[in-house]
Amino acid sequence: MRVSRRALVVGAGAAGLTATLPFPRSYAEPATKEYWIAAQTATVNLTGDGHPDTAVWAYEGTVPGPELRVRQGEPVRITVSNKLDEDTTVHWHGIRLRHAMDGVPGLTQKPIRPGACFVYEFTPPDAGTFWYHPHADTLQQLGRGLAGALIIEEPERVAVDRDLLWFIEDWRLDDEGRITGGFGNRMEAGMSGRIGNTVTLNGRVREAVSVKAGERVRLRIVNAALARIIGLRFEGHKPIIVAHDGQPSDPYPPDGGRVMLGPAMRADLILDMNGTPGQTYRVIDDFYPDFAYKLADLAYDPGKPARDPRSDAPPKLPTNPLPEPDLAAAERHQIALQGGMMGGMGMMGRSGMMGGMGTMGDDATWAMNGMSMTGDGQPDMPPLFTLKRGKSCVLAVRNETAWWHPMHLHGHSFRVISRNRKPNPRREWRDTVLVPPRETVELAFAADHPGDWMFHCHVADHQEAGMMSVIRIA
Ligand code: C2O
Ligand code: CU
Repeated sequence: MRVSRRALVVGAGAAGLTATLPFPRSYAEPATKEYWIAAQTATVNLTGDGHPDTAVWAYEGTVPGPELRVRQGEPVRITVSNKLDEDTTVHWHGIRLRHAMDGVPGLTQKPIRPGACFVYEFTPPDAGTFWYHPHADTLQQLGRGLAGALIIEEPERVAVDRDLLWFIEDWRLDDEGRITGGFGNRMEAGMSGRIGNTVTLNGRVREAVSVKAGERVRLRIVNAALARIIGLRFEGHKPIIVAHDGQPSDPYPPDGGRVMLGPAMRADLILDMNGTPGQTYRVIDDFYPDFAYKLADLAYDPGKPARDPRSDAPPKLPTNPLPEPDLAAAERHQIALQGGMMGGMGMMGRSGMMGGMGTMGDDATWAMNGMSMTGDGQPDMPPLFTLKRGKSCVLAVRNETAWWHPMHLHGHSFRVISRNRKPNPRREWRDTVLVPPRETVELAFAADHPGDWMFHCHVADHQEAGMMSVIRIA
Protein backbone atom coordinates (compact mmCIF):
# COMPACT_ATOMS: atom_id res chain seq x y z
CA MET A 1 0.00 0.00 0.00
CA ARG A 2 1.24 3.45 -0.85
CA VAL A 3 1.32 5.75 2.12
CA SER A 4 0.96 9.35 1.06
CA ARG A 5 2.77 12.14 2.74
CA ARG A 6 -0.58 13.55 3.70
CA ALA A 7 -1.61 10.38 5.46
CA LEU A 8 1.64 10.38 7.37
CA VAL A 9 1.14 13.90 8.51
CA VAL A 10 -2.45 13.32 9.53
CA GLY A 11 -1.33 10.19 11.34
CA ALA A 12 1.31 12.12 13.17
CA GLY A 13 -1.38 14.56 14.22
CA ALA A 14 1.15 17.20 15.11
CA ALA A 15 0.09 20.76 14.56
CA GLY A 16 3.71 21.80 14.17
CA LEU A 17 4.09 19.60 11.10
CA THR A 18 1.02 20.82 9.33
CA ALA A 19 2.29 24.37 9.34
CA THR A 20 5.06 23.43 6.94
CA LEU A 21 2.70 22.11 4.25
CA PRO A 22 1.55 24.49 1.55
CA PHE A 23 -2.22 23.88 1.76
CA PRO A 24 -3.39 22.58 5.12
CA ARG A 25 -6.91 23.18 3.77
CA SER A 26 -6.67 19.93 1.84
CA TYR A 27 -7.04 17.77 4.92
CA ALA A 28 -8.34 20.00 7.67
CA GLU A 29 -10.48 23.07 7.22
CA PRO A 30 -8.57 25.89 8.88
CA ALA A 31 -10.56 28.22 11.05
CA THR A 32 -11.90 31.26 9.27
CA LYS A 33 -9.97 34.37 10.16
CA GLU A 34 -12.25 37.22 11.20
CA TYR A 35 -11.90 40.96 10.98
CA TRP A 36 -14.31 43.75 11.77
CA ILE A 37 -13.66 47.13 10.22
CA ALA A 38 -15.73 50.27 10.42
CA ALA A 39 -15.65 53.08 7.89
CA GLN A 40 -15.84 56.15 10.10
CA THR A 41 -14.72 59.71 10.59
CA ALA A 42 -11.61 60.40 12.67
CA THR A 43 -8.94 62.97 13.36
CA VAL A 44 -5.34 62.03 12.67
CA ASN A 45 -2.00 63.73 12.36
CA LEU A 46 -0.63 63.38 8.85
CA THR A 47 2.01 66.08 8.77
CA GLY A 48 3.90 65.56 12.00
CA ASP A 49 4.21 67.00 15.49
CA GLY A 50 3.58 70.71 15.67
CA HIS A 51 1.42 70.61 12.54
CA PRO A 52 -2.36 70.68 12.61
CA ASP A 53 -4.43 67.51 12.69
CA THR A 54 -6.64 66.46 9.81
CA ALA A 55 -10.24 65.27 9.84
CA VAL A 56 -10.38 62.13 7.72
CA TRP A 57 -12.65 59.23 6.83
CA ALA A 58 -10.79 56.09 7.78
CA TYR A 59 -11.20 52.38 8.48
CA GLU A 60 -11.15 51.93 12.25
CA GLY A 61 -10.15 55.58 12.45
CA THR A 62 -6.56 54.96 11.38
CA VAL A 63 -4.60 56.05 8.31
CA PRO A 64 -3.93 53.76 6.63
CA GLY A 65 -6.63 51.34 7.76
CA PRO A 66 -5.70 48.18 9.69
CA GLU A 67 -3.22 45.95 7.93
CA LEU A 68 -5.18 42.76 7.25
CA ARG A 69 -3.07 39.61 7.08
CA VAL A 70 -4.44 36.32 5.83
CA ARG A 71 -2.69 33.12 4.79
CA GLN A 72 -2.92 32.03 1.19
CA GLY A 73 -5.70 29.49 0.70
CA GLU A 74 -7.29 30.15 4.09
CA PRO A 75 -10.75 31.67 4.44
CA VAL A 76 -11.34 35.13 5.82
CA ARG A 77 -14.52 36.87 6.89
CA ILE A 78 -14.47 40.65 7.08
CA THR A 79 -17.47 42.49 8.45
CA VAL A 80 -17.57 46.07 7.26
CA SER A 81 -19.80 48.49 9.11
CA ASN A 82 -20.65 51.83 7.66
CA LYS A 83 -20.48 54.69 10.15
CA LEU A 84 -20.39 57.34 7.45
CA ASP A 85 -23.31 59.51 6.34
CA GLU A 86 -23.30 58.01 2.86
CA ASP A 87 -23.29 54.61 1.14
CA THR A 88 -20.08 52.68 0.88
CA THR A 89 -18.66 49.28 -0.18
CA VAL A 90 -15.23 47.68 0.03
CA HIS A 91 -13.32 46.34 -2.95
CA TRP A 92 -10.49 43.86 -2.29
CA HIS A 93 -8.22 45.14 -4.99
CA GLY A 94 -6.43 42.39 -6.92
CA ILE A 95 -7.94 39.42 -5.08
CA ARG A 96 -9.40 36.79 -7.38
CA LEU A 97 -12.71 36.04 -5.72
CA ARG A 98 -16.40 35.38 -6.27
CA HIS A 99 -18.24 38.15 -8.05
CA ALA A 100 -20.61 38.72 -5.10
CA MET A 101 -17.62 39.63 -2.88
CA ASP A 102 -16.06 42.17 -5.26
CA GLY A 103 -17.59 45.24 -3.66
CA VAL A 104 -18.97 47.16 -6.63
CA PRO A 105 -22.29 48.82 -5.73
CA GLY A 106 -25.10 48.06 -8.15
CA LEU A 107 -23.02 45.48 -9.98
CA THR A 108 -22.02 42.92 -7.33
CA GLN A 109 -23.92 44.03 -4.21
CA LYS A 110 -26.28 46.61 -2.81
CA PRO A 111 -24.36 49.50 -1.31
CA ILE A 112 -23.85 49.38 2.46
CA ARG A 113 -26.19 52.04 3.83
CA PRO A 114 -25.18 54.31 6.70
CA GLY A 115 -25.53 52.30 9.92
CA ALA A 116 -25.53 48.96 8.09
CA CYS A 117 -22.98 46.14 7.75
CA PHE A 118 -21.88 43.79 5.01
CA VAL A 119 -20.01 40.55 5.48
CA TYR A 120 -17.33 39.77 2.92
CA GLU A 121 -16.08 36.19 2.79
CA PHE A 122 -13.44 34.81 0.50
CA THR A 123 -10.43 32.51 0.36
CA PRO A 124 -7.53 34.30 -1.31
CA PRO A 125 -5.92 31.98 -3.86
CA ASP A 126 -2.79 34.08 -4.34
CA ALA A 127 -0.13 35.22 -1.89
CA GLY A 128 1.05 38.79 -2.25
CA THR A 129 0.53 42.48 -1.57
CA PHE A 130 -3.05 43.63 -2.08
CA TRP A 131 -5.17 46.43 -0.71
CA TYR A 132 -8.73 47.46 0.01
CA HIS A 133 -10.69 50.62 -0.61
CA PRO A 134 -14.27 51.81 -1.17
CA HIS A 135 -15.93 51.50 -4.57
CA ALA A 136 -18.71 53.97 -3.82
CA ASP A 137 -18.08 57.71 -4.15
CA THR A 138 -14.53 56.48 -4.62
CA LEU A 139 -12.97 59.82 -5.40
CA GLN A 140 -14.08 61.35 -2.13
CA GLN A 141 -13.96 58.28 0.13
CA LEU A 142 -10.48 57.23 -0.99
CA GLY A 143 -9.37 60.86 -1.11
CA ARG A 144 -10.47 61.37 2.50
CA GLY A 145 -8.48 58.38 3.70
CA LEU A 146 -10.40 55.10 3.34
CA ALA A 147 -7.75 52.57 2.30
CA GLY A 148 -5.68 49.80 3.83
CA ALA A 149 -3.29 46.99 2.98
CA LEU A 150 -4.35 43.36 2.60
CA ILE A 151 -1.34 41.07 2.83
CA ILE A 152 -1.76 37.47 1.77
CA GLU A 153 1.07 35.48 3.31
CA GLU A 154 2.93 32.69 1.57
CA PRO A 155 2.53 29.37 3.36
CA GLU A 156 6.28 29.22 3.76
CA ARG A 157 8.45 32.00 5.05
CA VAL A 158 10.31 34.00 2.42
CA ALA A 159 14.00 34.28 3.29
CA VAL A 160 14.33 37.95 4.27
CA ASP A 161 15.25 39.64 7.52
CA ARG A 162 12.26 41.97 7.57
CA ASP A 163 8.97 42.43 5.80
CA LEU A 164 8.12 46.14 5.50
CA LEU A 165 5.04 47.87 4.13
CA TRP A 166 5.10 51.34 2.63
CA PHE A 167 1.54 52.46 2.12
CA ILE A 168 1.61 55.66 0.13
CA GLU A 169 -1.26 58.14 0.05
CA ASP A 170 -1.63 61.57 -1.48
CA TRP A 171 -3.66 64.36 0.12
CA ARG A 172 -4.69 67.85 -0.81
CA LEU A 173 -4.52 69.89 2.38
CA ASP A 174 -4.94 73.56 3.11
CA ASP A 175 -2.74 75.52 5.54
CA GLU A 176 -4.86 74.42 8.48
CA GLY A 177 -4.36 70.78 7.59
CA ARG A 178 -7.89 70.35 6.27
CA ILE A 179 -8.66 68.22 3.24
CA THR A 180 -9.84 70.65 0.58
CA GLY A 181 -13.19 70.09 -1.12
CA GLY A 182 -13.81 70.32 -4.82
CA PHE A 183 -13.71 66.60 -5.47
CA GLY A 184 -14.69 65.89 -9.07
CA ASN A 185 -13.70 69.29 -10.43
CA ARG A 186 -14.50 69.03 -14.12
CA MET A 187 -11.30 70.62 -15.40
CA GLU A 188 -9.12 68.44 -13.22
CA ALA A 189 -11.10 65.33 -14.11
CA GLY A 190 -10.29 65.97 -17.77
CA MET A 191 -6.58 66.20 -17.05
CA SER A 192 -4.34 64.40 -14.57
CA GLY A 193 -7.01 63.92 -11.89
CA ARG A 194 -6.80 65.17 -8.32
CA ILE A 195 -3.12 65.17 -7.48
CA GLY A 196 -2.51 66.35 -3.93
CA ASN A 197 0.16 68.40 -2.20
CA THR A 198 1.03 66.08 0.68
CA VAL A 199 2.33 62.53 0.34
CA THR A 200 2.26 60.25 3.37
CA LEU A 201 4.13 57.04 3.99
CA ASN A 202 2.22 54.78 6.39
CA GLY A 203 0.04 57.73 7.35
CA ARG A 204 2.79 60.31 8.06
CA VAL A 205 4.84 62.74 6.03
CA ARG A 206 8.52 61.92 5.50
CA GLU A 207 9.19 59.30 8.06
CA ALA A 208 12.77 58.30 8.46
CA VAL A 209 12.84 54.57 8.14
CA SER A 210 15.42 52.93 10.39
CA VAL A 211 17.43 50.16 8.83
CA LYS A 212 20.46 48.07 9.76
CA ALA A 213 23.49 47.52 7.61
CA GLY A 214 23.53 44.04 6.14
CA GLU A 215 19.84 43.29 6.42
CA ARG A 216 17.71 42.09 3.55
CA VAL A 217 14.27 43.71 3.45
CA ARG A 218 11.19 42.77 1.52
CA LEU A 219 9.58 46.11 0.86
CA ARG A 220 5.93 46.10 -0.15
CA ILE A 221 4.95 49.39 -1.72
CA VAL A 222 1.32 50.31 -2.33
CA ASN A 223 0.37 53.41 -4.29
CA ALA A 224 -3.02 54.24 -2.77
CA ALA A 225 -3.13 57.76 -4.27
CA LEU A 226 -6.16 59.02 -6.18
CA ALA A 227 -4.18 60.19 -9.17
CA ARG A 228 -0.50 60.62 -8.39
CA ILE A 229 1.96 58.39 -10.24
CA ILE A 230 5.18 57.74 -8.35
CA GLY A 231 8.68 56.92 -9.58
CA LEU A 232 10.94 56.03 -6.66
CA ARG A 233 14.72 56.13 -6.63
CA PHE A 234 16.67 54.68 -3.73
CA GLU A 235 19.91 56.63 -3.40
CA GLY A 236 22.88 54.32 -2.97
CA HIS A 237 20.74 51.19 -3.21
CA LYS A 238 19.76 48.67 -5.86
CA PRO A 239 16.13 47.63 -5.52
CA ILE A 240 15.14 44.34 -7.12
CA ILE A 241 11.50 43.85 -8.12
CA VAL A 242 10.13 40.45 -7.14
CA ALA A 243 6.39 41.03 -7.59
CA HIS A 244 3.95 43.35 -9.34
CA ASP A 245 0.46 43.80 -7.96
CA GLY A 246 0.99 40.86 -5.62
CA GLN A 247 2.00 38.46 -8.38
CA PRO A 248 5.61 37.17 -8.31
CA SER A 249 7.90 37.90 -11.23
CA ASP A 250 11.43 36.78 -11.92
CA PRO A 251 13.59 39.11 -9.81
CA TYR A 252 14.92 42.05 -11.85
CA PRO A 253 16.25 45.56 -11.33
CA PRO A 254 13.80 48.20 -12.60
CA ASP A 255 14.83 50.42 -15.54
CA GLY A 256 17.23 53.07 -14.31
CA GLY A 257 16.72 51.82 -10.76
CA ARG A 258 13.37 53.63 -10.65
CA VAL A 259 10.25 51.92 -9.35
CA MET A 260 7.18 53.23 -11.18
CA LEU A 261 3.75 52.84 -9.67
CA GLY A 262 0.51 54.31 -10.97
CA PRO A 263 -2.48 54.62 -8.65
CA ALA A 264 -3.52 51.22 -7.20
CA MET A 265 -0.31 49.52 -8.30
CA ARG A 266 2.00 47.64 -5.94
CA ALA A 267 5.54 46.37 -6.11
CA ASP A 268 7.39 44.01 -3.83
CA LEU A 269 11.09 44.80 -3.72
CA ILE A 270 14.07 43.09 -2.25
CA LEU A 271 16.23 45.83 -0.82
CA ASP A 272 19.62 44.85 0.51
CA MET A 273 20.77 47.40 3.05
CA ASN A 274 24.33 47.67 1.86
CA GLY A 275 24.84 51.28 2.99
CA THR A 276 27.17 52.59 5.67
CA PRO A 277 26.17 52.45 9.34
CA GLY A 278 25.19 55.88 10.63
CA GLN A 279 24.44 57.27 7.16
CA THR A 280 21.12 58.34 5.71
CA TYR A 281 20.05 57.81 2.11
CA ARG A 282 17.17 59.56 0.43
CA VAL A 283 14.27 57.89 -1.30
CA ILE A 284 13.12 60.31 -3.98
CA ASP A 285 9.96 60.41 -6.03
CA ASP A 286 10.72 62.22 -9.27
CA PHE A 287 8.00 60.93 -11.57
CA TYR A 288 7.02 64.57 -12.14
CA PRO A 289 10.59 65.91 -12.48
CA ASP A 290 9.64 69.51 -11.68
CA PHE A 291 8.01 68.38 -8.48
CA ALA A 292 10.56 65.88 -7.18
CA TYR A 293 10.48 65.44 -3.42
CA LYS A 294 11.96 63.20 -0.78
CA LEU A 295 9.55 60.48 0.29
CA ALA A 296 11.68 59.23 3.17
CA ASP A 297 15.19 58.69 4.46
CA LEU A 298 16.70 55.29 4.97
CA ALA A 299 18.45 55.95 8.28
CA TYR A 300 21.18 53.44 9.10
CA ASP A 301 21.74 52.37 12.64
CA PRO A 302 25.25 53.50 13.64
CA GLY A 303 26.06 50.11 15.20
CA LYS A 304 28.26 47.44 13.71
CA PRO A 305 26.64 45.70 10.68
CA ALA A 306 24.73 42.52 11.44
CA ARG A 307 26.64 40.80 8.67
CA ASP A 308 28.72 41.51 5.56
CA PRO A 309 26.99 43.20 2.62
CA ARG A 310 24.64 40.81 0.84
CA SER A 311 25.65 39.62 -2.58
CA ASP A 312 23.68 36.38 -2.93
CA ALA A 313 20.76 36.34 -5.34
CA PRO A 314 17.46 37.71 -4.03
CA PRO A 315 14.84 35.09 -3.24
CA LYS A 316 12.26 34.29 -5.91
CA LEU A 317 8.74 34.25 -4.51
CA PRO A 318 6.76 31.02 -4.92
CA THR A 319 4.41 31.19 -7.91
CA ASN A 320 0.67 31.63 -7.49
CA PRO A 321 -1.89 29.26 -9.06
CA LEU A 322 -2.93 31.61 -11.87
CA PRO A 323 -4.71 30.18 -14.91
CA GLU A 324 -2.38 30.52 -17.88
CA PRO A 325 -3.99 32.23 -20.90
CA ASP A 326 -3.87 30.17 -24.09
CA LEU A 327 -2.59 32.76 -26.55
CA ALA A 328 -3.07 30.62 -29.66
CA ALA A 329 -6.75 30.06 -28.90
CA ALA A 330 -7.43 33.48 -27.36
CA GLU A 331 -10.22 35.81 -28.44
CA ARG A 332 -8.91 39.22 -29.40
CA HIS A 333 -10.56 42.45 -28.31
CA GLN A 334 -9.65 46.10 -28.47
CA ILE A 335 -10.45 48.92 -26.14
CA ALA A 336 -9.74 52.53 -27.03
CA LEU A 337 -9.33 55.03 -24.21
CA GLN A 338 -10.80 58.34 -25.32
CA GLY A 339 -11.55 61.89 -24.24
CA GLY A 340 -10.03 64.31 -21.76
CA MET A 341 -8.35 67.63 -22.33
CA MET A 342 -5.90 67.71 -25.17
CA GLY A 343 -2.83 69.23 -23.57
CA GLY A 344 -4.86 72.25 -22.47
CA MET A 345 -6.60 72.72 -25.85
CA GLY A 346 -10.08 71.97 -24.55
CA MET A 347 -12.26 68.95 -24.26
CA MET A 348 -12.40 66.42 -27.03
CA GLY A 349 -15.71 66.83 -28.85
CA ARG A 350 -18.57 64.70 -27.57
CA SER A 351 -19.66 63.82 -31.07
CA GLY A 352 -16.28 62.50 -32.01
CA MET A 353 -15.93 60.69 -28.76
CA MET A 354 -19.32 59.09 -28.48
CA GLY A 355 -19.29 57.72 -32.01
CA GLY A 356 -22.93 56.70 -32.22
CA MET A 357 -22.77 53.95 -29.61
CA GLY A 358 -24.65 55.96 -27.07
CA THR A 359 -23.49 57.16 -23.70
CA MET A 360 -24.56 56.84 -20.12
CA GLY A 361 -24.26 59.77 -17.80
CA ASP A 362 -24.13 63.39 -18.88
CA ASP A 363 -21.02 64.37 -16.99
CA ALA A 364 -18.79 62.17 -19.11
CA THR A 365 -15.34 63.48 -19.91
CA TRP A 366 -13.80 60.16 -20.86
CA ALA A 367 -14.95 57.11 -22.80
CA MET A 368 -13.98 53.55 -23.62
CA ASN A 369 -14.90 52.46 -27.14
CA GLY A 370 -17.32 55.37 -27.30
CA MET A 371 -19.15 54.50 -24.10
CA SER A 372 -19.01 56.30 -20.80
CA MET A 373 -20.09 54.85 -17.50
CA THR A 374 -19.88 57.52 -14.82
CA GLY A 375 -20.17 57.89 -11.05
CA ASP A 376 -20.10 54.54 -9.27
CA GLY A 377 -21.24 52.76 -12.41
CA GLN A 378 -24.68 51.76 -13.61
CA PRO A 379 -26.17 48.32 -13.05
CA ASP A 380 -27.62 48.31 -16.56
CA MET A 381 -24.33 49.17 -18.22
CA PRO A 382 -23.95 46.91 -21.25
CA PRO A 383 -20.66 44.99 -21.20
CA LEU A 384 -18.00 46.03 -23.72
CA PHE A 385 -17.82 42.38 -24.67
CA THR A 386 -18.64 38.93 -23.34
CA LEU A 387 -16.25 36.03 -22.84
CA LYS A 388 -17.11 32.43 -22.17
CA ARG A 389 -15.79 31.09 -18.91
CA GLY A 390 -12.51 29.27 -19.52
CA LYS A 391 -11.82 31.27 -22.68
CA SER A 392 -8.58 33.20 -23.01
CA CYS A 393 -8.57 36.82 -24.07
CA VAL A 394 -5.94 39.09 -25.56
CA LEU A 395 -7.02 42.64 -24.91
CA ALA A 396 -5.33 45.53 -26.72
CA VAL A 397 -5.77 48.76 -24.74
CA ARG A 398 -5.04 51.77 -26.90
CA ASN A 399 -4.64 55.09 -25.15
CA GLU A 400 -5.80 57.78 -27.60
CA THR A 401 -5.66 60.49 -24.96
CA ALA A 402 -2.97 62.91 -23.82
CA TRP A 403 -2.90 61.48 -20.25
CA TRP A 404 -1.66 58.42 -18.36
CA HIS A 405 -4.17 55.77 -17.31
CA PRO A 406 -3.59 52.95 -14.80
CA MET A 407 -6.14 50.42 -16.09
CA HIS A 408 -7.47 47.87 -13.61
CA LEU A 409 -9.35 44.64 -14.27
CA HIS A 410 -11.42 43.23 -11.41
CA GLY A 411 -11.33 39.57 -10.38
CA HIS A 412 -8.40 38.59 -12.60
CA SER A 413 -4.69 39.07 -13.03
CA PHE A 414 -3.36 39.38 -16.55
CA ARG A 415 -0.04 39.05 -18.28
CA VAL A 416 1.30 42.14 -20.03
CA ILE A 417 2.33 40.61 -23.33
CA SER A 418 3.27 43.62 -25.45
CA ARG A 419 3.78 47.36 -25.43
CA ASN A 420 3.43 49.29 -28.69
CA ARG A 421 3.49 46.04 -30.62
CA LYS A 422 6.84 45.03 -29.13
CA PRO A 423 6.58 41.76 -27.24
CA ASN A 424 7.23 42.20 -23.54
CA PRO A 425 9.85 39.56 -22.70
CA ARG A 426 9.05 39.64 -19.00
CA ARG A 427 5.29 39.00 -19.46
CA GLU A 428 4.71 39.90 -15.86
CA TRP A 429 1.37 39.41 -14.18
CA ARG A 430 -0.46 42.50 -12.97
CA ASP A 431 -3.96 43.60 -12.09
CA THR A 432 -3.38 47.24 -13.03
CA VAL A 433 -1.30 48.43 -15.95
CA LEU A 434 -0.11 51.96 -16.54
CA VAL A 435 -0.77 52.99 -20.14
CA PRO A 436 1.19 56.08 -21.23
CA PRO A 437 -0.38 58.67 -23.58
CA ARG A 438 -0.75 57.42 -27.17
CA GLU A 439 0.56 53.99 -26.35
CA THR A 440 -0.96 50.54 -26.71
CA VAL A 441 -0.61 47.70 -24.23
CA GLU A 442 -1.74 44.12 -24.80
CA LEU A 443 -2.97 42.03 -21.90
CA ALA A 444 -3.77 38.35 -21.78
CA PHE A 445 -5.87 36.49 -19.25
CA ALA A 446 -8.02 33.41 -18.88
CA ALA A 447 -11.62 34.20 -18.01
CA ASP A 448 -12.08 32.05 -14.94
CA HIS A 449 -14.59 33.78 -12.68
CA PRO A 450 -18.12 34.30 -14.04
CA GLY A 451 -19.74 37.70 -13.62
CA ASP A 452 -19.66 41.28 -14.82
CA TRP A 453 -16.20 42.55 -14.00
CA MET A 454 -15.18 46.17 -13.94
CA PHE A 455 -12.37 47.33 -16.17
CA HIS A 456 -11.59 50.94 -15.40
CA CYS A 457 -8.99 53.61 -14.96
CA HIS A 458 -7.82 53.86 -11.35
CA VAL A 459 -7.38 57.62 -11.46
CA ALA A 460 -10.54 58.13 -9.46
CA ASP A 461 -11.60 61.29 -11.33
CA HIS A 462 -11.17 59.54 -14.67
CA GLN A 463 -13.16 56.54 -13.53
CA GLU A 464 -16.06 58.61 -12.25
CA ALA A 465 -16.05 60.80 -15.36
CA GLY A 466 -16.48 57.92 -17.79
CA MET A 467 -13.38 55.75 -18.01
CA MET A 468 -15.14 52.73 -16.63
CA SER A 469 -16.53 49.66 -18.32
CA VAL A 470 -17.65 46.11 -17.74
CA ILE A 471 -16.40 42.86 -19.22
CA ARG A 472 -18.85 39.97 -18.90
CA ILE A 473 -17.74 36.42 -18.25
CA ALA A 474 -20.64 34.10 -18.94
CU1 C2O B 1 -8.99 49.31 -6.87
CU2 C2O B 1 -12.30 49.04 -9.25
O1 C2O B 1 -10.66 49.21 -8.07
CU1 CU C 1 -7.23 57.54 -16.41
